[in-house]
Formats: sequence, C-alpha cells, structure tokens
Amino acid sequence: MNGLDDRIYIEGGHQLKGSIRIQGSKNAALPMMAASLLHRGVSVLKGCPRIADVFCMEEILQNLGAVTWWENQDLYMDCENADKWSVPFLFTGKMRSSVILLGALLARNGKGSLGYPGGCVIGKRPIDLHLLVLRKLGAVITEEAGLLMAECPRLQGTVVSFPKRSVGATQQGILGAVLAEGKTVLENCAREPEIQWLCRYLRSMGAKIEGDGTDRICIYGVERLKAGSMQVPPDRIVAGTYICAAAITRSQITLENPPEGELEAFLEVYRKMGGQYKGNSGKLLVNGEHVQKPVELLETAVYPGFPTDLQSPVMAVLATVKGRSCIRENVFEDRYKAAQQLVKMGADIRVQGKEAVIHGGKEFHGAIVTAWELRGGAALILGALCAKGVTVLEGYSYVQRGYEHICQDLNTLGAAVKRMQE
Ligand code: EPZ
Repeated sequence: MNGLDDRIYIEGGHQLKGSIRIQGSKNAALPMMAASLLHRGVSVLKGCPRIADVFCMEEILQNLGAVTWWENQDLYMDCENADKWSVPFLFTGKMRSSVILLGALLARNGKGSLGYPGGCVIGKRPIDLHLLVLRKLGAVITEEAGLLMAECPRLQGTVVSFPKRSVGATQQGILGAVLAEGKTVLENCAREPEIQWLCRYLRSMGAKIEGDGTDRICIYGVERLKAGSMQVPPDRIVAGTYICAAAITRSQITLENPPEGELEAFLEVYRKMGGQYKGNSGKLLVNGEHVQKPVELLETAVYPGFPTDLQSPVMAVLATVKGRSCIRENVFEDRYKAAQQLVKMGADIRVQGKEAVIHGGKEFHGAIVTAWELRGGAALILGALCAKGVTVLEGYSYVQRGYEHICQDLNTLGAAVKRMQE
C-alpha cells in the first residue's frame, strides 16, 4: 500500500449509538487454519474474519498445495494435496504467528521448514519455547541462513514443562502432539481462550485432548484426523476495543454477539473506570457515559489476567479520564508505541521502561498520527473519536491485519471515519 491509500481520516466529537456484530476471532482462526492441515481433505471455518493475517495464512496453505475458497463468510480449505513442507521467509517475516505451522508440518509430513520469523515492533518475540516443545517431542531442528529445518518421522509423546507461559508455544505443542505416538503432557501451558478453541476444533476432528483452559494439557496421539467444521468464535479483543470506543466517547452501544466469559479481567478494569454494562438475551449493552475514574495501576498478564492486546486501547481511554493512571506492560517488551502518537493528540503520557504514567483529562485535538502495529493503531482510532477536529491516521494497513471492518462498524455507530479513496 502506498502512503495515501494507507490512510484514514477520523472526524472526532461524535457520540456513538446503536449496535454492531463482532467479527470472528483472528487469534482463534489462525491456529485453526494451521490445524486444518492435519486432515487430508476439506475443512471449513465458519464466520472466519476476512482480515490481512487470515489472507496471509490462506496464501501459506495454498503455497503448501492446499486449495482454499470462500463461501460468504466461510473459509474452505482442501488440504488433500497440501504435501509441500516449507514456508518461505516471504510469509514468516510478514506474520510471525505462522511459526505454529512447524508443528503441523512435522505432524503431517515428518518434516517442515520455515523462514525464521522475525521479531516485530512490540518486542523481540523469540521462538525458543516453540523449538523446545518440538525437540522434546523428538524433532531434530537445525537452523542455517535464517531457515529452520525440522525432521522426525513420527513425533513421540512425552512430558514437556514450559519454563514460561506462551500462547503460540502451547499451540505448537498441541499441533505437534495430536498425531504423535503415545501420550503427551504439556505443563505450565497458556490458558487463553484461543487455546481452548483450537482444542475444541481438533477434538471435532477426532483428536484426544484434555485439560485445555488449565495449565496442564494431556494429548493422546491418534493415527489420523477427520475433516474439521466449526464456527470461529467472536473476537474478544475486537469486542474490548469497541467497548473502549463507547468508553472514550462516553456513549452507549450494544454488542450483538459478545464473547462469552472471555473478557472478565478487562471488564473489571472497565468497571473501575466507571464503565457500566449488562447482558440482555445474549447481547451486551455497554454504557460508557460515566467513565471518569483513573486506574491507579493496571498490569497486563497472561490469561486470565488483563490482556496485553487491550493495553493500548485502554491507555487511550485513560488519557481522557481526569487524574493519574499507571499501566505496567508485563508481557511484551515494547508495546507503548501508541503513547507518543496519542501525545500528538494532546494526551499526557510518560513511558518509563515497562510503565506508562498517564495524567488524563486533557482535551484531545486532531493530528497526523502513525500506526506502527495492530493494537496501537486501534488505540489511535479511539483517541481520534474524541479529538476536536480531524485526525489523519497513517499505517491503516496495520489495523487491517486484525480488524475486519472497524471503519464501517464505527460509522454504523455514528462516527465519521473515511478512507482516502472516499
Ligand atoms: C499471541 O502471540 C497473540 N497472537 C498475540 O496477539 C498476543 O498478544 C499474545 O499471544 C499474548 O496473549 C496470536 O495469537 C496470533 P506468547 P504469541 O508466545 O503466541 C515470549 C495481536 O495483537 N515468548 O504468549 O506470540 C514473547 O516474547 C497479537 O493479536 C518467548 O520468550 O504470544 C512474549 O514476551 C499481538 N519465547 C511472551 O512470551 C517463545 O518461544 C508471550 O508471548 C514464545 C514467546
């Protein structure tokens, strides 16, 4: 994308009202797409989000020999002939979460190779835990000239204890173990909902998995898996982002299909700020009109703690709330890129290492700001919603990696967000 059409214009000052549907979850769909490689036939993910990261994973599957197509919002993947086993750096450099394909490639072909996934703007993002679990399962993994090569005729079940919790490494271990010989026990696993969705999908394909959602998961290897067919769950981070939109504009909105029971830690902070909500026959009525209280200390943590992916959106909201708030980012090393961009709009945010101190309540004004990554970009859109005047956001393509129709959704609720072409 060139600079001009990678830009959106947001005219601030509009109250929001009305209701919207939440898209399918990016972070659930991606590992479910990798799992679809484990069946030599057609699998389908219903209600799959049409976002850049899904299209990238779709391209990787095609590159491996799969045939994919869409029927409305449903993504079909025919992996009968997906027998190639290498993923070029062209893809892994663009989307580091593609590293979880290594376990699936090993499980399907007995070997796999992929370009070493780079770090990204929110942190170094090493993959040592991914390699640890696959080596424990018997894979011989070498790295030369930036290419990871893994081989093992058939992975062998074993006990693997993760030294620290990692969503991707937990998914890597599950994808490697479902077709392995014997029983695998994964200890100190991540407990994010996306782990549970992956395991539900794999169980629907015939995998034998217990304990997902806890920190100890048991997987009993089977000989083969049948076709997968599952609805992608609503995206909990998109839902949290839209609740922040209601909070920052002090509006009332309705989420028609909120994720069930996956936002507790976020909603606790939202309530602390003065936010209100209530469930009503499956919908979530959100009232941000009384958001006015700072939060003394907000710490991000692994699930079920406060999700790091909602740290930047909540930072934007806290910058509009009178008083001193403090955020401590404990998961990623460099996830405050949005702060200096919010400062351009008038926010008072000082970053010191893992902490961001916010003196909220200053009025925001329109500015030209740049998104450097997905959730920081979303936070800038939120800041622009309450800014006086027009904000130009550059780097909108980062936001499109995870938000299927954020501009359209916000305009449906009464905002004024325009693409360059319009
Ligand atoms: C997943 O990333 C999500 N991505 C991230 O969402 C999310 O922020 C993160 O989990 C935490 O919830 C997808 O699901 C595609 P981790 P992942 O491995 O799996 C370190 C978004 O905006 N680590 O749990 O990469 C790592 O550096 C994205 O949608 C190692 O040290 O996260 C980080 O500090 C951003 N070694 C911490 O663990 C490893 O081998 C948690 O990372 C792997 C990770």
